[in-house]
Amino acid sequence: MLPKINPANTESWKLLQQHFEEMKNVPVKDLFMEDPERFEKYSFAVPEIVCDFSKNRINDTTTRLLLQLADECGLRQAIDAMFSGEKINETEGRSVLHTALRNFSGKPVLSDGKDVMPEVKRVLEQMKSFCSRVHSGEWKGYSGKTIKYFVNIGIGGSDLGPVMVTEALKPYWVEGIQTYFVSNIDGTDLAEVLKKITPDETMFLIASKTFTTQETMTNAHSARDWFMKAASDEKAVAKHFVALSTNEKDVRAFGIDTENMFEFWDWVGGRYSLWSAIGLSIALTIGYDNFENLLKGAYSVDQHFNETAFEKNVPVLMALISLWYINFFGAQSEAILPYDQYMHRFPAYFQQGNMESNGKHVDRNGNKVTYATGPVIWGEPGTNGQHAFYQLIHQGTLLIPCDFIAPVLTHNPLGDHHRILLSNFFAQTEALMNGKIREELQAEKVPESIIPFREFEGNKPTNSFLVTEITPTTLGELIALYEHKIFVQGIIWNIYSFDQWGVELGKQLAKQILPELQDNSVVTSHDASTNGLINTYKKLRE
Ligand code: F6P
Repeated sequence: MLPKINPANTESWKLLQQHFEEMKNVPVKDLFMEDPERFEKYSFAVPEIVCDFSKNRINDTTTRLLLQLADECGLRQAIDAMFSGEKINETEGRSVLHTALRNFSGKPVLSDGKDVMPEVKRVLEQMKSFCSRVHSGEWKGYSGKTIKYFVNIGIGGSDLGPVMVTEALKPYWVEGIQTYFVSNIDGTDLAEVLKKITPDETMFLIASKTFTTQETMTNAHSARDWFMKAASDEKAVAKHFVALSTNEKDVRAFGIDTENMFEFWDWVGGRYSLWSAIGLSIALTIGYDNFENLLKGAYSVDQHFNETAFEKNVPVLMALISLWYINFFGAQSEAILPYDQYMHRFPAYFQQGNMESNGKHVDRNGNKVTYATGPVIWGEPGTNGQHAFYQLIHQGTLLIPCDFIAPVLTHNPLGDHHRILLSNFFAQTEALMNGKIREELQAEKVPESIIPFREFEGNKPTNSFLVTEITPTTLGELIALYEHKIFVQGIIWNIYSFDQWGVELGKQLAKQILPELQDNSVVTSHDASTNGLINTYKKLRE
């Protein structure tokens, strides 16, 4: 069981409120002048990532009080509960064991008193041998051709993780194959992919934990209809459709041979599922060995998270520093800014990861919280973001803590591109911290009337993550860091991070509205706005 402590009632929370009054106007650049060792003090290395927290509005007292808050909220107990398979997803009665999917310790992991590791290994073996049969050309489509195209049909956690990872690891793609992702119920998504593939060379991966999600099942049926027009024989489906799911019954009902089903379990949350059979599209795209390295990278961070004292524990520090801004400075959003084009879907991936996990306003006692919880997560790769929204981060009225992520080595050493990219990375974090004051502008002979517009307050907090190179291993590390950050924040905010009831209402209403759209009769069963919109739609489509 998880502790159920209201963080706002702890001693450390009250001390942090007082401490905020002392810290709120302290410039970080002054803290650097006071302490030449500040970079060393607030920089930590997980295997291949240097994480620099020194450009934050924190000092020794801040970290001491934040660490006290983690202790008072029972973080240690909660970490132990997660790793040991306790049913910490209490509203759904489930364990939370994505860490078991990348557990290379050789030790058992129990859920409901049963070791889950033999099953995890069985499915990994199944994925490995499937990849080998497909990549070697042993697996043939109905016309005798080998498989060249993979189409993953899934949504949310059954899409975003594989999309993000396959994009981030494009340099590792197996030669001669092409992977596509279809998620949106908007027929355009599927239609555009179907234009690029041939039925007898395509493998569809139907990725759905529940195998009931409307978007995925509709897309899957349409893909099968398209396929059957060419294949004509039902038996061909077995060669071109596989399922990644926990729901054997509905997989069979869809017509997929359960031989071609890659199983996972209810203790894998949708947005934590890329490590499971949902990762089959990843393994097929970058090769099984690279997929395993991704898991190994995550495993090394799991060990770091589980075994390192909180004061040196990177995900714990990421969570606490972020919480400091959200709960005491009133920050409402955080930007994730990868200086790596391949990482362009990383912010979107953790938009779901974070917002579906910690977008909650009821605590673990069933009471409305009195403090802010999960922030809005957003971002774009640098330097594109610099020419779009950085203006607001530098000179707007909102405080937006930013994570800057960059690889030291690029996969595409083209001329001076990477040095220029990195110079922008360093320049932005420096500018956000130091700002630019009136005296500097005067020295540059900027006209007095223009000075107010060109002043930068600075003191905008940033974390910097320097990764040796974006590889399967380092990407696994990065993802796991953010996953555990989300976990730590959920524990301290006393909310349940592993359910997502908030997405259900819209789904239910859409199912009620769908039959009302069949004919052109006037609808009156909703509020005036919804009736008005539905009736306008019906009129305009006539
Ligand atoms: O949007 C809600 C959600 O349940 C996500 O958590 C999940 O990742 C997604 O839908 C897809 O669900 P499934 O894998 O069951 O199709």
